[in-house]
Amino acid sequence: TEAHQRMLDVVEAMKHQDGALLPILHGIQDEFGYVPAESVPVIADALNLSRADVHGVITFYHDYRSAPAGRHVLKICRAEACQAMGGEAMAERAEDLLGIKFHQTAADNSVTLEPTYCLGLCACAPAAQLDGQLIGRLDEERLREIVSEVRL
Ligand code: FES
Repeated sequence: TEAHQRMLDVVEAMKHQDGALLPILHGIQDEFGYVPAESVPVIADALNLSRADVHGVITFYHDYRSAPAGRHVLKICRAEACQAMGGEAMAERAEDLLGIKFHQTAADNSVTLEPTYCLGLCACAPAAQLDGQLIGRLDEERLREIVSEVRL
């Protein structure tokens, strides 16, 4: 299939570099917007790894998603500096307000909620990122704005 060929192209282009697995996974996610389950055997074969190895790496790193994202992606920092500044409460509020858990996408496909682990904005904790745009000092009010924004 055409998708299979695109997977092979990404894998072939990168499989000879050292530590090829992570760049390949990034390449696949760039190409498809997520890492399709069908790509796991393709990658495993090319790198002489087991499917379980590849799957383990995908689930270990928080950057890879296993299903397509919604129209917007809201990432909330769950690393220490943000936690210390009330980030966990914001994370819970985000789940409540969006009606989804982390790693889920809203039923209307408006938004995917993902954790992230340090956005380099610790000085402005708690931090978040909406569609790649950094947000510092996240508070309830800003969170509510974001929620109405993504639902438009
Ligand atoms: Fe959240 Fe660094 S810990 S931005």
